[in-house]
Amino acid sequence: MTTALITGSTAGIGAAFARRLAAQGHNLVLVARDVKRLGEQATELHDRHGIEAEVLAADLSTDEGIAAVERRLGDRTHPVDLLVNNAGFGNKGRFLEVSMADELTMLKVHVEAVLRLTSAATESMRSRGRGGVVNVASVAAFVPRGTYGASKAWVVQFTQGAARDLSGTGVRLMALCPGFVRTEFHQRAGMGTDNIPNWMWLDADKLVATALDDLARGKTVSVPDPRYKALMGVVKLTPRGLLGGVSSRTGRKYGPQ
Ligand SMILES: NC(=O)c1ccc[n+]([C@@H]2O[C@H](COP(=O)([O-])OP(=O)(O)OC[C@H]3O[C@@H](n4cnc5c(N)ncnc54)[C@H](OP(=O)(O)O)[C@@H]3O)[C@@H](O)[C@H]2O)c1
Repeated sequence: MTTALITGSTAGIGAAFARRLAAQGHNLVLVARDVKRLGEQATELHDRHGIEAEVLAADLSTDEGIAAVERRLGDRTHPVDLLVNNAGFGNKGRFLEVSMADELTMLKVHVEAVLRLTSAATESMRSRGRGGVVNVASVAAFVPRGTYGASKAWVVQFTQGAARDLSGTGVRLMALCPGFVRTEFHQRAGMGTDNIPNWMWLDADKLVATALDDLARGKTVSVPDPRYKALMGVVKLTPRGLLGGVSSRTGRKYGPQ
């Protein structure tokens, strides 16, 4: 039986990863801040699928929280075969409207935690000759969109580079780039969603199923939906200046996170 560690497992995309992986028979290490919610999730997944679900309460915006998850990933007596770096959040507001403390917290969770946890996991995976990492980015990585988009662009670049450096070791890495997904994300950030057309919303369970297929196929970047694949094709052909204008108009209160 293999073990998957999922950060931000209790809601949205992370919870969809937990459901899918548990249904496939993987044991889980569930990471988030809310201890009560983690406990309820672990019990539910254990009872429904008969898997072992371990709980690790950690705040990935703190050094202690990141270090606790690093330690678990480095435990060679209970190896982790798949890491899903999924925990993340949005800040409402444009540049200079968001406090510096909130900007830095975002970089801690989206960049530092992803770097440190990927390193801890892959070091151990490389020595065993197998393993996988999914780093949840966003299609916002491909358009100019403040610290959020910049942090997700880092996730994509970092993951592609690390995947290349580790090719041939048996360790796979993939950046997952969703568009809008119905989760707690927008509500937590206080962002309105009324102006997002229905067709732009993705279902978290379908997204995760496609993402895991893409990982198995050896993709290093997954944009798991034909609508967003087409949109990203248009984005590639659009001059950067024009893209910045469109992104800045549509991208703060309502744009893809
Ligand atoms: N929803 C979208 O439209 C969308 C689109 C593209 C990409 N994404 C990305 O997908 C990922 C998941 O987002 P989601 O939409 O599923 O969000 P969500 O529904 O708000 O869930 C966020 C999860 O992350 C955990 N979390 C948040 N801050 C944390 C911290 N400091 N330390 C540890 N855990 C933390 C939360 O649990 P606790 O509060 O208990 O810690 C929760 O389990 C994020 O990286 C996001 O940027 C989302």
